[in-house]
Amino acid sequence: MFRSHTCGELRMSHVGSVVTLAGWIQTIRKFGAITFVDLRDRYGITQLVFNESLSGQLDNNPLGREFVLQVNGKVIERSNKNASIPTGDIEIEIQSFSILNKSVTPPFTIQDDTDGGDDLRMKFRYLDLRRNPVKKNLELRYAVNRSARNYLHEHQFMDIETPFLIKSTPEGARDFVVPSRMNAGQFYALPQSPQTFKQLLMVSGYDRYYQVVKCFRDEDLRADRQPEFTQIDCEMSFVEQEDILDMFEGLIKRIFKDVKGVEYTDQVERMTWEDAMWQYGNDKPDIRFGMQIHTLKKPASVYYNKTDQSALINDAGFAVFDGAESVLAITVPSGAAYTRKQLDELTEWVKRPQIGMKGLAYIRHNEDGTVKSSIDKFYSEERLKKIAETTKANKGDIILILAGAEERTRKAMSELRLELGEQLGLRKKDEFKLLWVLDFPLFEYSEDDNRWVARHHPFTSPKPSQISTMIENDPAIKDAANYLSHPYAQIKANAYDMVLNGNEIGGGSIRIYQRELQEKMFEALGMSKEEALHKFGFLLGAFEYGAPPHGGIAFGFDRLCAILGGSESIRDFIAFPKNNSGRDVMLDAPSSIDDVQLNELNLKINLS
Ligand code: AMO
Repeated sequence: MFRSHTCGELRMSHVGSVVTLAGWIQTIRKFGAITFVDLRDRYGITQLVFNESLSGQLDNNPLGREFVLQVNGKVIERSNKNASIPTGDIEIEIQSFSILNKSVTPPFTIQDDTDGGDDLRMKFRYLDLRRNPVKKNLELRYAVNRSARNYLHEHQFMDIETPFLIKSTPEGARDFVVPSRMNAGQFYALPQSPQTFKQLLMVSGYDRYYQVVKCFRDEDLRADRQPEFTQIDCEMSFVEQEDILDMFEGLIKRIFKDVKGVEYTDQVERMTWEDAMWQYGNDKPDIRFGMQIHTLKKPASVYYNKTDQSALINDAGFAVFDGAESVLAITVPSGAAYTRKQLDELTEWVKRPQIGMKGLAYIRHNEDGTVKSSIDKFYSEERLKKIAETTKANKGDIILILAGAEERTRKAMSELRLELGEQLGLRKKDEFKLLWVLDFPLFEYSEDDNRWVARHHPFTSPKPSQISTMIENDPAIKDAANYLSHPYAQIKANAYDMVLNGNEIGGGSIRIYQRELQEKMFEALGMSKEEALHKFGFLLGAFEYGAPPHGGIAFGFDRLCAILGGSESIRDFIAFPKNNSGRDVMLDAPSSIDDVQLNELNLKINLS
C-alpha cells in the first residue's frame, strides 16, 4: 500500500494512529536537528516532523523541493496550530521515509502566489497545475461538467460523439484543416462546432442530444477565446423557441446551484437585440447595473421605431455635435463630484486607440440645481437642463457625452459604461445576472462582398411570420447605400444568446428544416446552387427524408467556468491552453514537419 491517507485528510481524531502518506515536498525548514517538511498532494498539505533520530538518514538522503516522498509515522497534535489549512491541528512524527523520485529545482515556486510569469508557467504547465489556484479552477470545471451532464441526463438527453475530421461547418471563423494522406491533395476541416451533425441526429430521431465537445476556430484570440475550446452542445426536436429557453435556463440554474450553491430563483430577464444595442450599446449587456445609454442624436437609418432627440442637440453652433452622426450620453450617479483630474482621466480613456473617440463632453447637474458644462459656450442653461431631464440625471449626477459615427460611438459608449461600472464597483464578481438576448437580425450586410451574411449561422430559421418575406423576395442588394430598405434587413431570426454578467456564454437558434427554405438561405448568402450542393448536399438531402422541427444551443464551457470562477481569462480554466498567438509553448506547437511527412501528404511548403 503506497499510502493510507491523503495529505488533506488527517485531523485531531487521527491523533495516535500510524499512517503512510505520499506526495511532493513543498517546503523544507530546519530548526537545529529537527526538520519540518510540508508534503503536498491533490488533496492538501500535511506537516511532517523529522526528529533528531532521523538526521543521519537525512544527511545521507538529502530532501529537496518537489521530491516525491513516501513517509510512515504517527499523527500527533501540533503545539503550534495553523488555522489556515484543514490539517493544521496535527503533524506527522516520521518513523521512516523513502524518496520515490528526485526533482531538479523547479523554475518557479509551486505555491498559491508564485514567482513564475505567464510564459514560464505555461512552458512548465505540468508544474503550474500542481498549484492550488489552478487545481481549484480545474475542480470547478469538472463540477460544472458533472452538473451539466446530470441535468441533461435527467432530461433524456443522450451524449453522442460526432467526428472531428469533417468538411467545413461555417460558424464565422476560418477552419483549421488537416491534409489527407490517402486522398492526395484533399483536406479535412476540424469542426468549428458539431452544428450539422447535431441537426442530422435530429433527422435520425435522437430528439435530445448533447455533447461536451471540442470546437476548433482559427480566429483572432482574446482573453475569452481559444483556438480550441469546449462547448456544451445541445439540440432538441419538436420544440419552439420558448421550450429551448425554458430547458436551458434550467440547465444554467442547476449549474449555479450545484457549483456555487446559488439558488437563481428569478426568471431570466429577456431583452430584444434592438433594445440591447439601444440601451447598452452592445448585444451582450452587463445588467448587473443600470446606467443605460441615452441617444441624443442618431442617423435615421439605425434602430428602427425609436425617437431621437436631435432637436435638443443640433444647431447650437457646436460643430462637433452638429456634424456628428450620433450623440450619446450616459448619466453617472453622484458624478457631479468628479474632479477636473478625474474628468481629464476619463477623457484620456476615451481617446485611447482602442476606444478611438476625439473627446468627452460633460454636464454637471449640481446639488443646487444649476448645471455646469464643458459645452455651455454653445448650449443655454435651459437646453442643458432639458438634456439633463432627457438623460434622467438627478441633482448631484454628471452626464458624459460622446459624439461621432454611430457604430464607433455606440461601441465606445458601451465600453465607457462598463469602465464606469468597474470604477464604481458595480460589477461585482459574486453577483450573477443572466439575460436572454432575443430577436437578432437574421442577416448582416457585408460591405466587402455586397451581400448578406448569416448573423448566427446559415441554419438559423427566420421568425415564422417572416418566412414568406424571405421566400418571396430577391435577396440581391441593388442599392448598397440603402441596404437597410431591403426587406431582408427587417427579418428577425429565431435565435437567442444567453448572457452572463456581460459575457456571451451561449447561443443558438431554431433551425430551418425544409429544403426549400434552406436553399433560399444559401442563395441569400450568395451561394450558387452548385456550391450549396457541393458544400451542404448531405444536409439538403437529409431534409427530404422527414426532418423534424428542431432547435438547439451551445454554451461556451470554458467561458462559463471562468465567469463562475471569477476570472476574465478562460486560459486559467483549461488544463493545457494555448497562448495569445495560438501556440502551445510547452509542446512548442505548431512546428514544422519533415520532408518525409510532407511528401507522404503531397504537400510543398512555399513560404514567401
Ligand atoms: P456560437 O458560435 O455562438 O454557436 O458558439 C457558442 C458559444 O461558444 C463560445 N465560444 C468560444 N469560447 C471560447 N473560445 C472561442 N473561440 C469561442 N467561440 C465561441 C461562446 C459562444 O456563445 N453551433 C452554434 C450553436 C447553435 O446554434 O446551437 C455555435 O457554435 O460562449
